[in-house]
Amino acid sequence: MTWDPEALPHAVGKTIAVTGANAGIGYFASEQFARAGAHVILACRDPERAEAAISAIRRRVPGASVEAILLDVTDRESVAAAAEALVERERLDVLMLNAGIVHPPKRRATDAYGNELVLATNVLGHFKLAALAMPVLDRTAGARVVSLGSLATLLARFPLDDLQLEKSYNSWNAYAQSKIALQVFGFELDRRMRAAGSGVSSLVVHPGYSTSGRTPGIRGVNQPSRLKRFADNLQAAWTQGKDHGAWSAVRASLDPDAQGGQYYGPREVTKGAPARARATRTTRSRRVGARLWPLLEEYSDQRFDLG
Ligand SMILES: NC(=O)c1ccc[n+]([C@@H]2O[C@H](COP(=O)([O-])OP(=O)(O)OC[C@H]3O[C@@H](n4cnc5c(N)ncnc54)[C@H](OP(=O)(O)O)[C@@H]3O)[C@@H](O)[C@H]2O)c1
Repeated sequence: MTWDPEALPHAVGKTIAVTGANAGIGYFASEQFARAGAHVILACRDPERAEAAISAIRRRVPGASVEAILLDVTDRESVAAAAEALVERERLDVLMLNAGIVHPPKRRATDAYGNELVLATNVLGHFKLAALAMPVLDRTAGARVVSLGSLATLLARFPLDDLQLEKSYNSWNAYAQSKIALQVFGFELDRRMRAAGSGVSSLVVHPGYSTSGRTPGIRGVNQPSRLKRFADNLQAAWTQGKDHGAWSAVRASLDPDAQGGQYYGPREVTKGAPARARATRTTRSRRVGARLWPLLEEYSDQRFDLG
């Protein structure tokens, strides 16, 4: 089917939650969902940044139905409280797992529980959130979990025996392995839901290469310096704004023909309209998924049973 990212199907009546929704791809996906008529829950760690994003969407999308909930994905209590707020809803059609550290620290850092910080932020908090939000997803016909992967998955190994990067930390490894882990999780989640007979599906996407300097300026949401605009525009041939970077996640969330286990990304790999894409063999591997799952349960201190 052809898909026009600027003519979305109506999403009136749907409720969609987006993590890390106050900036970047999460913000623009939220705005696009709101424009399609969905009720959008922006799950953000900072109340002021969340409020700026809510105001921006209301300014840009008259009549938008949006609200914010607090969520710091590295804080287990915050994740549990956010999940509780979601489970109280009548329905949750899409849970978009987007929050992330995209520029990891040069030196290995850990969260309050001793987990490597990039893994904790990009993967473990989302694993726990999805596990705890399953009751509301389960009771919503056709609900989807959409996980933000990356092209970085093409360019790195996956050290399952050193997931906490105690032996081989550098900022690139930390980012790439976190995105590989999130993709493995997304595909494994779908397999487990199918095996359990669940009506929920899990899709994985990547946004190509999307920079803030190529993204519309929005007060309180995206205000790149002139230098950043200049530098990012030098890469215009192979990059796009984060407004377009949101397109593959929006398609995976709203396309009635999209199915669990599928992978979407920009048609021209790093930029462009969203289309089916091919994920790496490692991230699709059943064997890798089966090995990763118990590690995620252990590190997040969260059982995730389906069925
Ligand atoms: N941009 C790309 O080209 C690209 C490519 C591949 C994959 N991705 C993926 O797409 C997602 C979004 O990327 P982006 O470029 O839009 O990044 P971004 O502009 O840096 O936005 C990241 C968002 O995550 C939030 N966040 C970070 N740590 C958090 C925490 N502990 N708890 C809750 N929220 C937290 C940030 O909130 P604060 O404002 O509070 O920090 C912000 O809202 C990421 O998962 C990234 O890996 C992006």
